[in-house]
Amino acid sequence: MIPFKKWFGSKPLSAEQMERLDADNVPNHVAVIMDGNGRWAQKRGLPRVAGHHSGMKNVKKITMAADSIGVSVLTLYAFSTENWKRPKEEVDYLMKLPIEFFPKEIEELIANNVQIRMTGWHEGLPDYTLKAIQDAIEQTKNNDGLILNFALNYGSRKEMLSGVKQIAEDVQSGKLHADEIDESVFSRYMLTHPLPDPDLLIRTSGELRISNFMLWQLAYSELWFTELCWPEFTEQDFFEAVQEYQRRARRYGGL
Ligand code: IPE
Ligand code: IPE
Ligand code: MG
Repeated sequence: MIPFKKWFGSKPLSAEQMERLDADNVPNHVAVIMDGNGRWAQKRGLPRVAGHHSGMKNVKKITMAADSIGVSVLTLYAFSTENWKRPKEEVDYLMKLPIEFFPKEIEELIANNVQIRMTGWHEGLPDYTLKAIQDAIEQTKNNDGLILNFALNYGSRKEMLSGVKQIAEDVQSGKLHADEIDESVFSRYMLTHPLPDPDLLIRTSGELRISNFMLWQLAYSELWFTELCWPEFTEQDFFEAVQEYQRRARRYGGL
C-alpha cells in the first residue's frame, strides 16, 4: 500500500493514480523551472504580471502534490540573476509576490510540516522581499517535513564562480588543501548545500533549456519538459512527470 499523505484541502489521489505511482521510487528532490507565466497571460489578453500572480497561486497546489507522494525537497526557480534585465515594473511586481504569498499560505504550510528555504543571493533583493521569505524560513524552522526551496535571485554560473573564489581563499589561508578538492567538497561550496542534487527537473512552457539553473547539481538529473505554461500545470501533470521518471533507467555512466 502506498503511504500517500493527505493535505487538508487537497484532492486525494485516485486509486488509478496510486496504482501507477511506485512509492519506492519517488524522486527525492524535484526541481521546477516555473516558466511561461507571461505567455500564459498574453494568450488570454492579460498583462504579463497577471500570469505571475496566477503562477504564484499554483505553487501551493504543486507543493501539496509533491508532499503527498513523499518528495523530500521541492525547489522552485522563482527568479534568476538574469531576470533583473526585465522591465522595472515587472521586476517590482515579482518582488512583491512573497509578501502576498507567505502571509496567505504560511499557516497551512506550518500545519503540513513544510520547511521553507531559499537558494540565492540576498544582496539585490528589496528588504521587504527578503524579510517575507526570512520570516517564513524562521516560522518553519522547527518543521521536518517537505523542504520547499525557492531559488530566488539565483544563477548557477555566479554560484560556481563564487564557490571557486571561496575555495581559492580557503586554500590560500590553509583551511583547505588543493588535494582535498573533490566533488563532495565542491558541492559544499554551492548555495544549494546541504540539499541533495535534484533527481528530476521539470520545465514548463515548451522551452528546452536550463537557463543557468543548477548546472553542477543537474549533472545526472532526469529532465522532463512540457508545453504547458506554469499557471496551467496541474497536480496531474506533476504526477505524470513522476511516472515518466519512474520509467527511466538512471545509469550514471554505468550499464
Ligand atoms: C516564468 O515565467 C517566471 C519568471 C521567470 C520570473 P516568464 O515570466 O518567464 O514567462 P514567459 O516565459 O515570458 O512566458
Ligand atoms: C527561467 O526562465 C527562470 C525562471 C523560471 C525563474 P526565463 O524565462 O528567465 O528563461 P529564458 O530567458 O527563457 O531562458
Ligand atoms: Mg520565461
